[in-house]
Amino acid sequence: MKRFDIIVGDITRSAAEAVVKGANASLLGGSGVDGAIHRAAGRSLLEECRTLGGCETGKAKLTKGYDLPAKYVIHTPGPIWQGGGLGEPALLASCYRSCLSLAAANNIESVDFPSISTGIYGYPLPQAATVALRAMMDWLAEHELPRRVRMVCHTEATAAIYRQTWNLWYAEEKADRI
Ligand code: AR6
Repeated sequence: MKRFDIIVGDITRSAAEAVVKGANASLLGGSGVDGAIHRAAGRSLLEECRTLGGCETGKAKLTKGYDLPAKYVIHTPGPIWQGGGLGEPALLASCYRSCLSLAAANNIESVDFPSISTGIYGYPLPQAATVALRAMMDWLAEHELPRRVRMVCHTEATAAIYRQTWNLWYAEEKADRI
């Protein structure tokens, strides 16, 4: 099994041990992937989120997965794109690292990510893909856990950008192309 992969799918149906949820600082729900995960996980997720006291942009918090197939949800507020000069790339990289670090600290073996900040928060997809892939690949090169990480894109068009970006930076041989 590949340690890292890019797939198309609905992350609420993901069977990874933990799924990441792009969020806002309140952690109390919203639309997009956030709303979809709350709907699929049920009211107990919202109740646990109320006890967390929110989360800063670029950081991450862990809850149970409740009615999701995933055992855990990792909540991370991504940066709102404001042109790129207000630290958005560092904050986005920090989201991915914080989630992976929290997963490793909790002995979580597999993590599925959505494309953080590239919906309502408006982060341009090619730039976000470069930041996201670098953060994930750097982490995997230096840590044993999590053993498997996937980028779960909601559309084929999003996955195509992630694959192109991965191939640009990481595929040294044709055989490695995703
Ligand atoms: N599975 C996988 N990816 C999904 C799913 C899904 N079920 N649903 C949407 N996406 P967004 P953001 C993709 O807008 O930009 C919320 O209200 C979507 O196509 O969900 O980080 C929060 O509370 C896009 O590629 O998140 C915040 O207020 C990606 O997930 C704000 O939105 C992220 O889009 C966060 O905005």
